[in-house]
Amino acid sequence: MADALLRLDDVGVRFGGLRAVDGISLDVKRGERRAVIGPNGAGKTTLFNAVTGVVKATSGRITFEGRDVTRLPPHRRAGLGMSRTFQITNLFPSLTVRQNMEIAIRGLGPRKFSLFGSTAFTPEERERAERSLGLSRLVGRAETLVRELSYGEQRQLEMAMTLATNPRLLLLDEPAAGLSPSERVIVADVIRSLPSDITIVLIEHDMDLVLSLVDWVTCLNNGRFLAEGAPADIRANTDIQDVYLGRARHHA
Ligand SMILES: Nc1ncnc2c1ncn2[C@@H]1O[C@H](COP(=O)(O)OP(=O)(O)OP(=O)(O)O)[C@@H](O)[C@H]1O
Ligand SMILES: [Mg+2]
Repeated sequence: MADALLRLDDVGVRFGGLRAVDGISLDVKRGERRAVIGPNGAGKTTLFNAVTGVVKATSGRITFEGRDVTRLPPHRRAGLGMSRTFQITNLFPSLTVRQNMEIAIRGLGPRKFSLFGSTAFTPEERERAERSLGLSRLVGRAETLVRELSYGEQRQLEMAMTLATNPRLLLLDEPAAGLSPSERVIVADVIRSLPSDITIVLIEHDMDLVLSLVDWVTCLNNGRFLAEGAPADIRANTDIQDVYLGRARHHA
């Protein structure tokens, strides 16, 4: 498909004898909001890892903007605009929101970050930090220590840090996991109001939340493609109800 931003052709990931991802093909169009759902262990996170290069696809091909990225290392894919958040939060709690943004914008590891060596943002970096904090509804929190943020705000900061890298494709792995109902509403609003030129692929166990956010859903089970469709089709799909809805469990 000419307008596919991300294309997977028969992608597999094996861990020893386990086929964690088993022959997945899909096209994600530019600007699309796509969910990947499936029970625990279905291979959703591993699929994201293969897309971003954190694990190697052991078979198949991954194409981003028409370019074969299957063998590219993660930082090269990130440089092309493929960006992700993690299922487990990945922040530096003893630093401020602004300092975490600096780490994200400058692509620093925590060890390279120095409180004393840190230089002021350039105007472009400041604009990017402020825009990303605004999109993530964290205006006014820049000088707050991350450990003083609520858990929901920490997830919002993680989004802000990802947005600050100017992603074209944003992969969100359970952005609302462990959040209270009111925190979920905020994270959902943040996702819903992201710029339409950012293509979003979202893993989420909360079906009401996910089906309210996306145009298209891909359902995996045991590493394999099970079904796909619009949210209404997914609600009505009895296969999905059997393998997923009936046994879905939340993890904290
Ligand atoms: N690095 C790894 N080494 C070996 N096995 C792994 C590794 N990562 C994942 N797995 C296995 O691959 C399978 C798919 O795991 P994955 O984390 O992708 O599932 P998931 O759909 O994200 O599940 P969840 O909803 O619980 O997050 C599981 O059986 C898991 O134990
Ligand atoms: Mg997962």
